[in-house]
Amino acid sequence: MSSRTSDVLVVGGGIIGLVTAWRAAQRGLSAAVADPEPGGGAAQVAAGMLAAVTELHYGEQTLLGLNLASARRYPDFAAELTELTGHDLGYRRCGTLAVALDADDRAHLRELHALQRQSGLESEWLSGRECRRLEPMLAPGVRGGLRVDGDHQIDPRRLTRALLAACERAGVVFHRVWAERLRVLRDRAAGITTTDGDQLDAGQVVLAAGSLSGRLEGVPEAVLPPVRPVKGQVLRLTVPTRYAPFLSRTVRAVVRGSQVYLVPRENGELVIGATSEELGWDTTVTAGGVYELLRDAHELVPGITELPLTETRAGLRPGSPDNAPLLGPTDLPGLLLATGHYRNGVLLTPVTGDAMAHVLATGELPEVARPFTPGRFRRRVEQPA
Ligand code: GLY
Repeated sequence: MSSRTSDVLVVGGGIIGLVTAWRAAQRGLSAAVADPEPGGGAAQVAAGMLAAVTELHYGEQTLLGLNLASARRYPDFAAELTELTGHDLGYRRCGTLAVALDADDRAHLRELHALQRQSGLESEWLSGRECRRLEPMLAPGVRGGLRVDGDHQIDPRRLTRALLAACERAGVVFHRVWAERLRVLRDRAAGITTTDGDQLDAGQVVLAAGSLSGRLEGVPEAVLPPVRPVKGQVLRLTVPTRYAPFLSRTVRAVVRGSQVYLVPRENGELVIGATSEELGWDTTVTAGGVYELLRDAHELVPGITELPLTETRAGLRPGSPDNAPLLGPTDLPGLLLATGHYRNGVLLTPVTGDAMAHVLATGELPEVARPFTPGRFRRRVEQPA
């Protein structure tokens, strides 16, 4: 087989594309990735919370099952990648504390607590004083909170580097070029044409290009994934060693209706996120976005104003109509999707890799991924009269 022909061609080299290619290669399939900058994408911005329990929302109980399945895989997944590549992923089993700053936040958290309990999840209600005992840097005004010891974190940039190394070791071929058009031959996806005018052939094509997944030319309208970009601005601060330990776990809250979270890494990085903005393809870091994140984070943890602000960045979450990913075969034979992971791309990386490799190797989507088939958004395309 030439390097331009593979069993599986993954369009998009973010964490979802990389994990799909790696796991497929481990199953003996020849795999290739088309991306001008593999390892880029939303994971370079994401904070890396593995927050299945604290990010539970009403109406998302089906997604919860997938999130929990992936969270359970994380310890083995991280250990396997580290053993294979020598990369430490910054997987930190530190837990999360979601706090309330006023009576409205407190009522909101009480409702979340009730939903978590109904869903059989472990979380513990703490008074404001108990929250501050756990995290002394919290503001004196904290009115109570939810302690979730099972919601952890990973460093998505380290995860990306490890996945790139794992792909290289497994013989995944990288085509550092944009995919321009899907090639369809005899009603079957057969590969892509690149912006360089090259043709890459494949037995199966996986569209895993995050928020860009709906833009590949040549994909029939009826199977085009309904993903949209949802902008998130994120800040990175550094905790000087004299202030450590600044926070010992992820701390989060909803302030004036907006989510804010502070994710402390062992290397002293403190990630503060994130805005959620429906502004198309805009990735500008704005004064307003930075101001709001710092203002809200400061209300939670006033001491952040002492810390150096080392990075500001914006990324695009791939949002889907029901906030859940699209996984598996489409109605076009040979074309599969692994996209639309929205707020949970980092969390869902292990289960996505396993599910996609399984369906690519066997044709069967595993049980855990079946509620997320692209067919749930099947749209009727009007034929001209
Ligand atoms: N899961 C965090 C975010 O999307 O901002």
